[in-house]
Amino acid sequence: MSFSTLSPAQRNALVEAARAARERAYAPYSRFLVGAAVLDDLGQILAGCNVENAAYPEGVCAEAGALSAMVLAGGRKALAVVVVGTVGAWITPCGGCRQKLREFCDQDTPILTANEEAWGPAYTLAQLLPESFGPEHLAEA
Ligand code: THU
Repeated sequence: MSFSTLSPAQRNALVEAARAARERAYAPYSRFLVGAAVLDDLGQILAGCNVENAAYPEGVCAEAGALSAMVLAGGRKALAVVVVGTVGAWITPCGGCRQKLREFCDQDTPILTANEEAWGPAYTLAQLLPESFGPEHLAEA
């Protein structure tokens, strides 16, 4: 699936879910609100927001929350992902989240960026995390 193979309705539902999640972010320390949403293999859209912590490193990114929601809802593959940050910059997943996404995405899975108002650049997982390590490598061991 690529950006263009997502229907306009799917794209719209994904970005609106991520925008709504962003509104619920708990980010009292950075004040940097992030929302993410995934379309899964069951056709569900699951969202997450960043949840910070007074012990700063214990904070959780929006993408991690969306993947947790997907797994809990029975989804095992993310067909498309959108990350919504704040106007002024396009937010792509942090390094740790790229690896978390790697577990549930294909190389060509679209990772889309957006903000409250507009779509930003679109990437594939392979563009964001080239030559990566994944579940199939453990199967070879
Ligand atoms: N953050 C995310 O939730 N996702 C990203 O892709 C980048 C960063 C969060 C982590 C932290 O709560 C805040 O944004 C500032 O780094």
